[in-house]
Amino acid sequence: DQIYIGVDLGGTNIKVGICDEQGKLLQTFEGPTGAENGSDFVIERIAQYVRQIVEESPFEWEQVAGIGAGLAGFMDIPEGFVKFSPNLQWHNVPAKKMLEGFLGKTVKIDNDANVAALGEAWAGSGAGIPNVVCYTLGTGVGGGIIINGKIYQGSSGMAGELGHMSVVPDIEAIQCGCGQMGCLETVSSATGIVRMANEAVERGEKTSLALHEKIEAKHVFDAAKSGDEVSLRIVNRAAYYIGRSMAAMAVIINPKRFILGGGVSKAGEILFQPIRETFKKYTPETASEGVEIVAATLGNDAGIVGAAGLNLR
Ligand code: BGC
Ligand code: NA
Ligand code: ZN
Repeated sequence: DQIYIGVDLGGTNIKVGICDEQGKLLQTFEGPTGAENGSDFVIERIAQYVRQIVEESPFEWEQVAGIGAGLAGFMDIPEGFVKFSPNLQWHNVPAKKMLEGFLGKTVKIDNDANVAALGEAWAGSGAGIPNVVCYTLGTGVGGGIIINGKIYQGSSGMAGELGHMSVVPDIEAIQCGCGQMGCLETVSSATGIVRMANEAVERGEKTSLALHEKIEAKHVFDAAKSGDEVSLRIVNRAAYYIGRSMAAMAVIINPKRFILGGGVSKAGEILFQPIRETFKKYTPETASEGVEIVAATLGNDAGIVGAAGLNLR
């Protein structure tokens, strides 16, 4: 039997999965990224993990029929490059060529959020729905646009960089890792949420967040659920800008569904409800009618399944 390998490169961890021809996940592996060591190190590490998962599986290296990798950053897919990664601070990394050099097999690369979107479209919340827009809310904000069941790549492979939609008004905007001001990622990523929380604590606002030594996004959602006003305001702000960006996407793409994945999306209704309200408020009714905003169902596996799927779909 043939197997397909999917890699999901995140800022903290690298996930690798083995899938069968139907995209069924047979085995997974997760190890630290070691991002602080730079791109050469990380790419070599991906290759090591790929070899390792196959060695530890009942399969032979010869059975590997395809390898796909989702990488966090603006891609040049025809050239096989990560052009720029705002969170890893990579510039022009020839990832495809490097991985192929280490592995001796063809490797398909795409953006991490694009492959997560493909995974969801294939086997998750988007299954059977031709047009969906996905947001991955984690360290950064990633996006994936699925049109007629396929990733929309754009001219050079960097379409769907939803985290860098410019949404925050100048007067409140801060600089994003991409260099621009007011990107969605600055307010709606885990990083953005934690930053807003730290700022509130530093300003001496009255909030239970002050009790944490190191605030995480989850603390903010938990505090918001218990009625902490400051946390509620932060969550609402993160949600508001997602809703505003969806209002734009709805009139551009006309998707049937918006799918939210990534760690932050686990916050649940406290996040989804204000997103839905904002979306409704700012979208012409004819464009918002019947549009659903749902959570990703593959959770952490969407990326590896979708990356394996680069060779199958
Ligand atoms: C990057 C995207 C990536 C997202 C999630 C953003 O900062 O620009 O390419 O998909 O983070 O990792
Ligand atoms: Na993307
Ligand atoms: Zn940006």
